[in-house]
Amino acid sequence: MNDYNNDKYLVTAALPYANGPIHIGHLAGNFLPADIFVRFLRLKKKNVIFISGSDEHGVPITIKARQEGITTQNFVDKYHKLNREDLLNFGISFDIFSRTSSENHKKMASEFFEKLYNDGLLIPKESEQYYDQQEHQFLADRYIRGTCPKCGYEDAYGDQCEKCGVTLTPNELINPYSALSNQKPILKTTKHWYLPLGKYQDWLKEWILENHKEWKSNVYGQCKSWLEEGLQDRPVTRDLDWGVKLPLENTEGKVLYVWFDAPIGYISFTKELLGEKYKDYWCDKNTKLIHFIGKDNIVFHCIIFPVMLKMHEGYVLPNNIPANEFMNLEDSKISTSRNHAVWLHDYLGQYPGKQDVLRYVLTVNMPENKDSNFTWYDFKKRNNNELVATLGNFINRVFAMLQKYFESTVPECTFTSEDLGLIKDVNKIIFEIGSDIENFHFKDALNKFMEISRIGNKYLTDQEPWKKLKTDVDRVKAILNICVRLVYKLAVTGSPFLPFTSKKILNAFGANDVKFDDSLENIDFCGLKVNSIGLLFEKID
Ligand code: 2FM
Ligand code: ZN
Repeated sequence: MNDYNNDKYLVTAALPYANGPIHIGHLAGNFLPADIFVRFLRLKKKNVIFISGSDEHGVPITIKARQEGITTQNFVDKYHKLNREDLLNFGISFDIFSRTSSENHKKMASEFFEKLYNDGLLIPKESEQYYDQQEHQFLADRYIRGTCPKCGYEDAYGDQCEKCGVTLTPNELINPYSALSNQKPILKTTKHWYLPLGKYQDWLKEWILENHKEWKSNVYGQCKSWLEEGLQDRPVTRDLDWGVKLPLENTEGKVLYVWFDAPIGYISFTKELLGEKYKDYWCDKNTKLIHFIGKDNIVFHCIIFPVMLKMHEGYVLPNNIPANEFMNLEDSKISTSRNHAVWLHDYLGQYPGKQDVLRYVLTVNMPENKDSNFTWYDFKKRNNNELVATLGNFINRVFAMLQKYFESTVPECTFTSEDLGLIKDVNKIIFEIGSDIENFHFKDALNKFMEISRIGNKYLTDQEPWKKLKTDVDRVKAILNICVRLVYKLAVTGSPFLPFTSKKILNAFGANDVKFDDSLENIDFCGLKVNSIGLLFEKID
């Protein structure tokens, strides 16, 4: 097991673009694993900070704002607010969820660039790019349309043909035209600054391929193939009027590339949260920096951002980047443009108060090692068979019997060796749940958690306390005492996964500020009067 003592944790969840609402794919791939991990660390009383926010720059955002006929700032304001609320509603427990259009962020991103520039580490290069003479601006690849050289589709983008899927560069398009003015663009010389990735290739090989063999195989494999292919220098500036302005003279109309400024958001948001104390995390070798992301972000977090950090000097490098694959919906790719998604706010409109049901189903189907699939059929089945019939049923039965037989007060008792053996077995499972979470095996951890409620149900069915009330009340006391302990263990170990449900149960115990290790201790609860909890889960038809 990893050594999780004495360390500080800086956990980040990839910044969602503020260009549309959040859907289940974002939750399953990025926010839920990060939240489960962070909640677990807090339960272990570790020093942890959880950072995220909106990624508000980039060309697609400017295009969408234009389509909606509002300013880009108003556009990102709308989605930042909406996405923040949706994520908080689902219990994603950020310490801060900020945004990249804030002045704090722009200042830090610009200083970061300036340092690399002043240290002479960036390579300036001139190239010819398409320019719209009517709009007086250079055109980002997405703003150039034309005929696909491969399939002849007339409305291909400068970076890709939507019809045949081929990746393009703008100068490959036949009859290019500007998506802004519909005019034919001209080629004009422009200057940009490049990250010399090639220079860091050997360092990356050693750092990743030699020193981080423990990374998830999907992540390690992708890095390996990038590194074997060889890295090209990458421009980190763009001709655009939306983004972080370059801190250099005579660079009017140029901004930082969105993928340069966004990851710096992790640092700037920490500073927004902690002031100068952000350095206690970012500049201390005892910090474990862990980035939760989806697979499309691997190259940026494993290669480009680490090179930026290394060039800048003074900051820690990521310790792990447990990227997930994608979640599909009803067997096809989730797509914002085709409106093929389950949006978080729609879900809560239809199933108010059922955040934990979705958290559960998404975690059970988390795309940890391969793409996974969400279906409504599976959602209902898991709710009815697992949350209602197994977990909820056990806990609600225990509370009902405790109320009926002992006026909701946990009885004193003597245990048999079988009772104690059961507690020991469950503690072993709890121990495994902890190490699964530490190793990013969230599905396994959740399945083991459910196993505890199955054990509880079986114990009740085997022991039949309801038949012994008249003949052997001492035995009934022991059975219920054991069950109460199991319920408490479920509440504590389940809290990273099902925080809303756990809270209800722990409230009934009058417990707050619990520790993970409480679930391993043999607290006897004798004499404790528990409050009622109400129905934890209900059947969905
Ligand atoms: O892919 C995305 O949704 C990006 N907005 C992720 C950015 S993460 C980071 F580096 F800030
Ligand atoms: Zn094509």
